[in-house]
Amino acid sequence: NQWTREARYRPLSDLAPEVYQLMKEEVRNSPWRFSFHIQPPTGLLNDPNGFVYHNGTYHLFYQWFPLGPVHGLKYWYHMTSKDLVHWFDEGAALIPNDDPDSHGAYSGSGFVKNDQVHVMYTGNKRDAEWNRHTSQIVGHLRSDGRIEKHLPPAIPEVPTGYTEHFRDPKVFQHHDTWYCIIGAQRDDLSGCTVMYQSLDAENWTFMGELNTGYDQFGYMWECPDYFELDGKGFLLFSPQGISPENDRYQNIFQSGYLMGQPLALPELTFQHEDFVELDFGFDFYAPQTTLAADGRRILVGWMGLPDISYPSDRFNWAHGLTLPRELTLENQQLRQKPVRELISLRKETLYKQELELVDQLLPAQAEIFELELSQLQLSSDQLEVKLRVSDQEQTVLRYDQQTRRFTMDRASSGAEVPALDYGTTRSVTLTEPLHTLRVFVDRSSVEVFLNDGEAVASARIFPKTTSQGIVLTGDATAHLAIYSL
Ligand code: FRU
Repeated sequence: NQWTREARYRPLSDLAPEVYQLMKEEVRNSPWRFSFHIQPPTGLLNDPNGFVYHNGTYHLFYQWFPLGPVHGLKYWYHMTSKDLVHWFDEGAALIPNDDPDSHGAYSGSGFVKNDQVHVMYTGNKRDAEWNRHTSQIVGHLRSDGRIEKHLPPAIPEVPTGYTEHFRDPKVFQHHDTWYCIIGAQRDDLSGCTVMYQSLDAENWTFMGELNTGYDQFGYMWECPDYFELDGKGFLLFSPQGISPENDRYQNIFQSGYLMGQPLALPELTFQHEDFVELDFGFDFYAPQTTLAADGRRILVGWMGLPDISYPSDRFNWAHGLTLPRELTLENQQLRQKPVRELISLRKETLYKQELELVDQLLPAQAEIFELELSQLQLSSDQLEVKLRVSDQEQTVLRYDQQTRRFTMDRASSGAEVPALDYGTTRSVTLTEPLHTLRVFVDRSSVEVFLNDGEAVASARIFPKTTSQGIVLTGDATAHLAIYSL
């Protein structure tokens, strides 16, 4: 396929339904399709959008280009769930067919107003000279599953001082006032966020730039989110243009947060600690959070990155979303745990025992599974857990007791390893000695949660289906359980 500009901006409606059906069929039968992650029916998925809970249902949308594994004309695809685990496919919800979103319905968020799910997103438009024009559009979800746009755009233009890289509004309510935070690039080409306020979430007033201690930190901040948790304020964003620093910032683009005092409104000052990455793995970007029915703060990310190609691309689909994570604050540290509902994915118990591990153990074989190692007491210097193992392939998790450094190594995960230019290992240094390891393995992904959410790593891997070995090496006592999913 030649992904010319024309091909990238071709709408789905251009295709005869039979032709699209065939494309869907081919994707469904292609390798590396996920078993329990959200993935596109065809084409490319990127950011999670519009994540919101309403009347017993979670709504989660994602950025979608239907016709190929490239970034082109973006739609919002709609998924719903009762439990954050089993998702129902609701089809395309937001179609980029109006003038202000003629070149894409870009990222945005969801909120509930007047007992209805609403969204606010970025309309992306290119003019005849291919100059970008962005606006922010409000809409609501109709009972037929489509989003009705409230046009003209609520925020029709970019305020002075900022470039057209101005997008991804996240709406939240505070003391009866609506706020939205938007990712922006200043005229001097540095990244930041700005805020608007509103009494009805339709008419918005520009407040100004949110003041952080990171005045010069990359050239663009994408997908901001702001929320409070146990008396702390959290600003999440995905800065672009940050250089690697030891184990940090190893991917092409980063995603992380600033934790601080609750945001001072309307002054827009934010007192915070240093920027922390949310995920130390290879494939994580543009996360978004929402509040669950019971008040938990839940985060979902894009398990992928812009400008990186993957072996599954040649089968005409790309990327998935991460598992939902619950965010908690413990000892003034943010933790991310897999949502508890995920235990309902467990099918068969493949292994469950108290371990006295000396040297090597091959407890089970599995392709799609969860592994939980708890109450770990290590007597050797190192512990290794290898997944998706065969003669030629293995994905390695390695922990070094002396340094508390934990490494994920995908150099031999499969015949093709994505993003080789960015290296094949990722590491983090834990504050607590490793005592718990929970790993979720899908057909082409691994998500690792360390010490009850102290650190998380997500990675895409592309092994053969027959690479199913699980190998533990080290000298330790622990409780080990493995479940097929
Ligand atoms: C982040 C992003 C957003 C934008 C969207 C377009 O991955 O670039 O800033 O709204 O993707 O698909």
